Amino acid sequence: MNVLQVSAEIFPLLKTGGLADIAGALPVALKAAGCDVRVLLPGFTPIMGDLQSSSVLAELTAPWGERVLLRKGVLGTPGLAAYVIDAPALYCRPGTPYEDAQRRPFHDNHRRFALLGWVAARLACGLDAHWQPEVVHSHDWHAALTPAYLAYGPAQGRQVASVYTVHNLAYQGVFAPSHFFDLGLPNAAFSVNGLEFHGQLSFMKAGLYYADHITTVSPTYAREIQTPEQGCGLDGLLRSRAHDLSGILNAVDEAVWNPATDSAIAHPFDAKTPAGKTRCKGALQLELGLDARGKAPLFGVVSRLTEQKGLHLVMAVLDELIARGGQMVVLGTGDAALEAAFKTRAAAHPQAVSVRIGYDEAFAHRIFAATDVTLVPSRFEPCGLTQMYGLKYGSLPLVHRVGGLADTVVDCALENLADGTANGFVFDDFTPEALARAMRRALALYERKSEWRSVRQRAMAQPLGWDKAAAQYVALYQRLLG
Ligand code: ADP
Ligand code: GLC
Repeated sequence: MNVLQVSAEIFPLLKTGGLADIAGALPVALKAAGCDVRVLLPGFTPIMGDLQSSSVLAELTAPWGERVLLRKGVLGTPGLAAYVIDAPALYCRPGTPYEDAQRRPFHDNHRRFALLGWVAARLACGLDAHWQPEVVHSHDWHAALTPAYLAYGPAQGRQVASVYTVHNLAYQGVFAPSHFFDLGLPNAAFSVNGLEFHGQLSFMKAGLYYADHITTVSPTYAREIQTPEQGCGLDGLLRSRAHDLSGILNAVDEAVWNPATDSAIAHPFDAKTPAGKTRCKGALQLELGLDARGKAPLFGVVSRLTEQKGLHLVMAVLDELIARGGQMVVLGTGDAALEAAFKTRAAAHPQAVSVRIGYDEAFAHRIFAATDVTLVPSRFEPCGLTQMYGLKYGSLPLVHRVGGLADTVVDCALENLADGTANGFVFDDFTPEALARAMRRALALYERKSEWRSVRQRAMAQPLGWDKAAAQYVALYQRLLG
């Protein structure tokens, strides 16, 4: 089965969050499951730099008249056959893939990402005489126009199924209606039965409306986004498409996230031989100038610092954690006020709290390896990967019961400890009090060394690899082509 994966980011070349981890791992997992997979990406500088043996497949004129090249080659680092849109004027700029250095969205984002969907649809219609996808699978709003272009594109006799995956409904790609004319879609598309959203144009809505099938990244989030509370204004449309909507839980790329083989950590370990973890903890305490007390429970946060992630709750319980002898390490970047608040707390308690503002892949690995608890108190969380990395690295997740966090973490309540399902700490109410109670449960279990060790061992041994999710995607593709 020929499958084209369409996304804006891909690990390890370009990553702003979990989307990149999935876009990097899913094609490899699908290949292992027998699919012939290619990826389509915008030609951001790191992606162009990694593209090998490339040739120009086509010179194209975008709907607004700009000339761009489509290259075909191999992305050397992930080792994937790739199509890359070579358009430096659109993609090679300082800043993130989406924002300039002052964190302002680029003024032409609608063009930069419409092009991604437009090229995907051209490939689906036979642009490459040597390879044509049967399934076009696009991810998040950046690639969400793909199903719209497919719906209005010239049918080429061959059946092409479109799958659209929502990684986060909160980021929708909404633009002024005047930009609609750049997109090259028929007027009929700018309608409530199309991509019009309260008078604006919404890329997200295009994906949700036109895709043959919608997936999201956990079963619980698939249900949550059909409610007004979590539907971000699109719950009605999602409910109307409930039969074409399913949740497939993300997985962990064990080639990247495995404490037994991880080159970013100094002392490898695994479920059966966890001694290296203690050494990783000591090394990190030393590195960060934390009190090097092996006994102190060390909590970790690796996160975008945004409203979604619920970190104001962490701020509210930090004093209690310190008073109870705990320590905390934070790695994150984002909201300036949150960054400043965390820095202030670290300055006040340098031996108990360490905060690094920035993005550092290797440091993130060291944190999961060293900490006892990974905090993920998100207000909402489509899937969440860091709680799963915490499980793999024996850093028991403490999470709010939402989305994929609810699907992956089982609280250390007595009955769950008794039946051997417990692997972390879960709180229900989105309040500091509820988080504090879960934190006290974690601290209490931490004192019961042998129970802690057995929960940790089970968490680390839990299967979190890609086989199951890949099989679910393949079954979905087969059903759609069926
Ligand atoms: P989201 O995609 O909403 O940010 P996920 O938990 O799905 O949340 O994925 C976050 C990914 O980004 C993980 O791989 C995590 O380790 C990584 N990450 C987040 N912040 C940082 C940071 N400051 N430095 C390094 N890695 C980070
Ligand atoms: C999004 C979500 C996160 C999910 C990731 C990968 O960024 O916020 O919950 O894990 O995508 O699917």
